[in-house]
Amino acid sequence: MKLRRWITVGAVAVATAAAVNTLPATANRPYDPTAQTLGALGLRHGLQVGTAVDLAALNDANDPEYRRLAASEFSSVTAENAMKWESLEPTRGAYDWAAADQLVEFAKRNGQSVRGHVLVWHNQLPAWLTSGVADGSITKQELRELLRKHITTVVNRYKGKIWQWDVVNEAVSDPWDTPSTLHYKGFWAQNLGPGYIADAFRWARAADPRALLFYNDYNIEAFGSGNPADDKTQFVHDMVKGLLAQRVPIDGVGSQGHLGTQYGNYDTLQVTAALKKFAALGVATAFTEVDVRSELTEGVQAGNSAEINPRLQAAAANFSVLMKACLAVRSCLSYTVWGFTDRHSWVPGWFNDPPQGMATIYDENYQPKRAYQELKSDLIFAGPPYVLPRVAPRPRH
Ligand code: XIL
Repeated sequence: MKLRRWITVGAVAVATAAAVNTLPATANRPYDPTAQTLGALGLRHGLQVGTAVDLAALNDANDPEYRRLAASEFSSVTAENAMKWESLEPTRGAYDWAAADQLVEFAKRNGQSVRGHVLVWHNQLPAWLTSGVADGSITKQELRELLRKHITTVVNRYKGKIWQWDVVNEAVSDPWDTPSTLHYKGFWAQNLGPGYIADAFRWARAADPRALLFYNDYNIEAFGSGNPADDKTQFVHDMVKGLLAQRVPIDGVGSQGHLGTQYGNYDTLQVTAALKKFAALGVATAFTEVDVRSELTEGVQAGNSAEINPRLQAAAANFSVLMKACLAVRSCLSYTVWGFTDRHSWVPGWFNDPPQGMATIYDENYQPKRAYQELKSDLIFAGPPYVLPRVAPRPRH
């Protein structure tokens, strides 16, 4: 009985296939989701899949594959460095928009949305600004005015062209900083006090009423102890809650997602729970800078597959954890990788003691790695009832 049933089903399947074969040649090809790009597959869920773009690589005439993949594989782009203050205003009063403009035009040509990165950060500030503050030639009052002008000028230039702005980046300390109790760290908090955060969002909103305004940070993928004194995710959560209570126009929280295979990372349900807690505050979320680095041991460097394989597999699993969690939470609007090829990744230059690398989804020769395939399968196999289309917030005023 069971066998006959099976045969019947098989016969139906054959008959259907025969009918399909009578269709015109173009419609004949079965839909192959694995042939779609990450960007196209993300759109099934209303999710943008993006990459950071290195403008030097994009302009390298000898590296056409970088341009081709940046243009075709992703639905969103972020300037890896071109919109940072030191890049935009290397000399006081003289903005150089060339690289940032180019990125925005590239996105437009390729139908991609742009994440603006970054308006306020303690790193990659122009030397004239930091040295002026250090030697007292720029007063605190002037500094606040310079920040207001910078935010207003940059947001205004790209008004209507930026989907999400990282307004404030990495404002919160880590447990290994001094003092170890979590606090507002760095240049801006030291010179202006934590009130600069609310100011920055208000100034950004005044310059562009439509962009989604994000707070962006690392090591906030999941909650820990729940005590804001040592749990950075909790600290950021409470900060956002406080800003909302003051009617500060913050629309989203970006979780950078810089992971490493040597660490004990989180599982999908822990990350999902964190995204849901942020969503419960009424803000959107996004993964904004995902990469998963590995230690390049002597064995890895010598090509020892017993050391390479576990790293490739762990990296793929970690990329996938963040993707699945994002898919599961409807307010997670985008998933951006911080560079897509090991040929152009910030990791080897920044993490060299011990040497680290292998952090992206394509290898140095633009061959997709297991991590790429896992992201793709997450996008293919996800759907209702647990994965539903995105719900974008209306920009807060
Ligand atoms: C990094 C870039 O990738 C490097 O090219 C640059 O030299 C330093 O900054 N968090 C951020 C990003 O918000 O802006 C940083 O980008 C990586 C960490």
